[in-house]
Parts: sequence; structure tokens; C-alpha cells
Amino acid sequence: MIVDRQGRRFRNLRISLTAACNYACTYCVPDGKRLVAAQDELSAEAMVRGVAYLIEAAGIERLRITGGEPLVSPKLDMLLRGVSQLGLADISLTTNGQLLVRKLPLLLESGIRRLNVSLDTLDADAFRTIARGGDLATVLAGMEEARAAGVSIKVNMVPLRGQNLDQVLPLLDYCLERGFELRFIELMRMGHLARPGNSFVQQFVGMPELLAMIGERHAFAQADAPLDATALRYQIPGLGFFGVIANESVPFCRTCSRLRLSSTGWLHGCLSSSNRHYVGDLLDKPRHEALPALQGLLVKALGDKQEIAFSGGVTVMKIIGG
Ligand code: 5AD
Repeated sequence: MIVDRQGRRFRNLRISLTAACNYACTYCVPDGKRLVAAQDELSAEAMVRGVAYLIEAAGIERLRITGGEPLVSPKLDMLLRGVSQLGLADISLTTNGQLLVRKLPLLLESGIRRLNVSLDTLDADAFRTIARGGDLATVLAGMEEARAAGVSIKVNMVPLRGQNLDQVLPLLDYCLERGFELRFIELMRMGHLARPGNSFVQQFVGMPELLAMIGERHAFAQADAPLDATALRYQIPGLGFFGVIANESVPFCRTCSRLRLSSTGWLHGCLSSSNRHYVGDLLDKPRHEALPALQGLLVKALGDKQEIAFSGGVTVMKIIGG
């Protein structure tokens, strides 16, 4: 097992199935152009081998499938079939929900029982302004169907000053009524938001301000969360839970157990580091050749983690998917 000086190890793997996305969210894609798949993306077979090798080499226990937007990829079916055979403790998926109605049967067949749906607003006009793609009603219909099928849903909202702060309470109530756990993600300095002269400072909304807004409507208390969780969880007695992923206000680098594999075969040990390690070629090699080389790269990737706090990075979320 590869462990660093702070006792951290890789436990959770996130695979970006494709860089393609059917949205072009303002905080993710500065030029507003829809993202397409990278030319040199890994095949589903190579990704499944990658997950199998990383389970052995790094001790991966849980997998999250991200993008881009994973539901737009024709590789989804094959990937799910493959990874569901690997004995992982948990497989979940992060999606913008636009194709959820269509893909739900496949997700259910593959044993997916947990979804994170990105949803920044319940206002159809604001939705179009932020996401620059898709349709709000379609996302909500997908979430309803998933809920009816017994899928556990977390909703990701990135609060943005001037764009969706009026939605904090409506979205929270919407989620509480349906048993969804809403998670506010503090805006991260990634991609264009890490470059000089960007809009991060104007748009950023921190946890204290959010909790104050929520406190005007609901009484809440901190709740338990796993040790390596990124979210601080709160319980509103009798109504449910919500969380805050407070990258800036309460950094969680000390307990980070995440490893990321991009759709083009690069390992990222830390979102805040521009270091990445190419493993695409190793995934075509037999186990006895691939594992030792992979182990060397994993040591480097673990060394890329920040000591305490996320300091920003040019790595773009659109490619690595959170
Ligand atoms: N800061 C915070 N969250 C972001 N996401 C994408 N880009 C950023 C950013 N710069 C969110 C998406 C998605 C999740 C995976 O990450 O909204 O819900």
C-alpha cells in the first residue's frame, strides 16, 4: 500500500469517461463553446483494465464516474459492465442529469444506486444563463424517475454571486422535500478561474455566508461524515441533511484520498497541482509489466497532493470532472 507522510492513501478513484459535455457552464468553460471528446480518449476496455490495475496497485475501494458528462459517452455501457465485475465497494456517477431519463435503465441494470446531479438553479432562465445548454425540466424529470427507482441522490450546487444566490433556499427546500442531499460546492480556482484577472473573487460565496442564509430559515447542527469526506454535513432536524464542500473555508487536503484518471489516460493525484502522470500506455500491458510501473507513478501522484489547502490550479474541471 502506498501511504504518504500524512497517512494519506488513494482509496477513491474518479474516472473521467469523456471530456465531452452537453453543457458549457460559465464557471467551467470560459468561451462558452460546447466541449467535445478528446481525440485520444481511452477505450472503455482500457479504462476497465485501468480500474482493475489501480485496485491492485493503489488499494482503490470506491469508484466515481465523471466527465465531461459521462452520460453522453457511447462508452458508458461497456465501462459499467466491466467495472461492476471488479468487486468495488461502491460505484457512483456524477451527471448533469440531462440524459438521465434515457440512461436510467442502463444505470439501474449496472447496479448504480447513487448519483450526484449537478444543478445550480431551479430558475429556467438562470439555468440557461449558467449551463448554456440543456433544459431544466428534463433534468428535474430525470431526478424524479431516479428517485422513484430508489436511487439515492445528492445534488451539487455551486453558489455564484450575482447568478444563483437567490436559489440557495429554494433549492434546499426542493431537495429536503424529496430526500435529496444538497451539497453546496464553494467555487474553486480552477482553469480560467486560476488565471490572473479572473472573476473568482466577485463570484465566490463562502461557507459562513451560506450557513447564515440557511440559518435564517432552518435550525441545523453538524452531522457525522466519513473521515475522508470532502463535505461538512449538517442535519436539519426532522427535514434532512445538506452539505458544504468548503474548499476555501475549511480545506480538506489533509484527509484527501482521491485519485483521478482522465479520459486520455493521465493520473492526477491532486486537483491543485498541474502535475499529471501518463498511464494510457500501461493499460495495454499485461499485469506483471503494468503494476510495477504504475506503482512508481502512484508514489509520484500521491506526492502531488497539497499539504493543507487547495491553492488553485490550471487543471480544468471540465476535463477531470470534480
Ligand atoms: N468550482 C467548484 N465546483 C465546480 N464544478 C465544476 N467546476 C467547478 C469549480 N470551478 C462542479 C460542477 C459539478 C462538480 C463535479 O463540480 O458543478 O457539480
